[in-house]
Amino acid sequence: MNSKEIRQKYLSFFEKRGHAVLPSTSLVPENDPSVLFNTAGMQPLVPYLLGEKHPLGTRLCSIQKCVRTIDLDDVGDNTHATFFEMMGNWSLGDYFKKESINWSFELLTSKEEGFGIDPSRLYVTCFEGDKNAPKDEESAGIWREIFDKHGVKGNRIFFLPAENNWWSAGDNGPCGADTEIFYDISGLHTDGLSHEEYLEADEKQEVVEIWNNVFMEFEKKDGEIIGKLANKNVDTGAGFERFCLVLNGKSNFYDTDIFEEIFAKIDAQHAELNPSTAQLQSPSTLSEKEALRAKRIVADHVRTSVMLISDGVTPSNTDQGYILRRLLRRAVRFADNLGLKKGSLFWIADAVVNTYADIYENVARQRETIKITIDNEEQKFRNTLSHGLKEFDRIVKKDSKSISGKDAFVLFSTYGFPVEMTIEMAGEIGLQVDKDAFEEEMKKHQDLSRSGAGQKFKGGMGDTSDISIKYHTATHLLHQALREVLGTHVSQKGSNITAERLRFDFAHTAKMTDDEKERVEEIVNKRIEEALPVNVVELPIEEAEKTGALHFFGEKYGDKVTLYYIGNTIEEAFSKEFCGGPHVKNTSELGHFKIQKEEAVSAGVRRIKAVLE
Ligand code: ALA
Repeated sequence: MNSKEIRQKYLSFFEKRGHAVLPSTSLVPENDPSVLFNTAGMQPLVPYLLGEKHPLGTRLCSIQKCVRTIDLDDVGDNTHATFFEMMGNWSLGDYFKKESINWSFELLTSKEEGFGIDPSRLYVTCFEGDKNAPKDEESAGIWREIFDKHGVKGNRIFFLPAENNWWSAGDNGPCGADTEIFYDISGLHTDGLSHEEYLEADEKQEVVEIWNNVFMEFEKKDGEIIGKLANKNVDTGAGFERFCLVLNGKSNFYDTDIFEEIFAKIDAQHAELNPSTAQLQSPSTLSEKEALRAKRIVADHVRTSVMLISDGVTPSNTDQGYILRRLLRRAVRFADNLGLKKGSLFWIADAVVNTYADIYENVARQRETIKITIDNEEQKFRNTLSHGLKEFDRIVKKDSKSISGKDAFVLFSTYGFPVEMTIEMAGEIGLQVDKDAFEEEMKKHQDLSRSGAGQKFKGGMGDTSDISIKYHTATHLLHQALREVLGTHVSQKGSNITAERLRFDFAHTAKMTDDEKERVEEIVNKRIEEALPVNVVELPIEEAEKTGALHFFGEKYGDKVTLYYIGNTIEEAFSKEFCGGPHVKNTSELGHFKIQKEEAVSAGVRRIKAVLE
């Protein structure tokens, strides 16, 4: 079964069982300052898991784009990738364990409606209990009944501690015990396993997790369970690429149809033969195994970069932009190791666009922008790369044990080597880098908030503190004020909120004059003084569009959307936007609005940082 069929089958199975199909949201969470990217299907749904009513009902499903870069160094093995898609289904206080587990089993094994997997390949784990919640006998009982009914032999159900079978996205937010479904890719374990044998098979990756069903009943704050949620929810997640691997009968997902065209394009980019010597112009010096890893790294990083750029990220030295830069520069280095022609990333990106064009409209639409952005970053890095490599050799010769923070900083600031790249290159020849000293240098020299990006990775779920809600409403006022002062070409390119400030990126080419900034501040502050109500309505998409409310063009929304407007009536509202909220009730809650900084982020995109005082 190819990846397209898997997508369709998953969604239609749950649609048929009363679930609304949600489009994937952007990789960059719109109103969640604590994480750089969506890392799980449930992330855009946190407010609803915490109790807010979802406009499309209590049964939802989606295939959500996710990026995880914590395991960057593992990319290239069989199962790690920085971009992946998560298939998920949710119950918001609707069905619970029985339906959830039964449907997962049915979708996996049914020959008619599902994937027709042999049930004797399945193993499951359940929560063994701790001070927060008892042993999950209920889930285990449901599994036992299913396995018995289908004549599946042997021991299949294993109880494990919270470390394995309790799930939350971070230290804050909804969480609960889960049951995880594993698939025996080795085909060796059809008769069941003892507890020890199961642990060993897991360790050897003979069985791999394919689906996680979380029963979200609790809320966490700062890492501690603080109580029960209003509803008993279900949150499931199944890695799309893992499913493709299993259903394609492969042992790694780079061999699935998802990577077919991308790999073919990489192969076609090998350096040309030199006509006079009949030798490759820049031959690869890698062993076969190293070459395979390098090829997977290039494929993975270009794939992730394409998806990030399609969601509005541009290479930079901070936050999401820094991750993109790191991925692309690492891809350039491994493309060189592999002996690819210079400028190959542009063509590989084209293959990635082809792979996803039918699935994500914003990828198809931005094909040229994506390729050019990637090519520009490659060129930019190449301008300094060869000098940087010489400098690296010089540094290494100076001291055979370690690279100082100062030297790592020079490699970064003068030659554009992300520090992670320096660490990786140093590691390849057995050297350490003094990362702490590097961070010190960074702090000393400028305000590149690289460490901020690092911290966000560890971060937990969305901060819906009162102050970030205020900044969110202020962002809507700012957006509209900018359109009034600068023109209606102003449109949102990005937004990021912390407890200290808002940040708003928008399309506009010229630097704003002082007068323009003052006028924008005046408009926002006037709206705050007017104490305008902030209202929310739920409308069918066509009607919502007719109101002229601002939204992301090309973004796919559900049949119904929530629209926030600031003003007494929707016709007279000062600001109208498609938005998931939350917002303050009245603009009078905001205080005084002040622009702190206005600067360029990339060609045609300006950035404002502003505070509420
Ligand atoms: N949210 C759960 C996960 O990501 C389903 O594993």
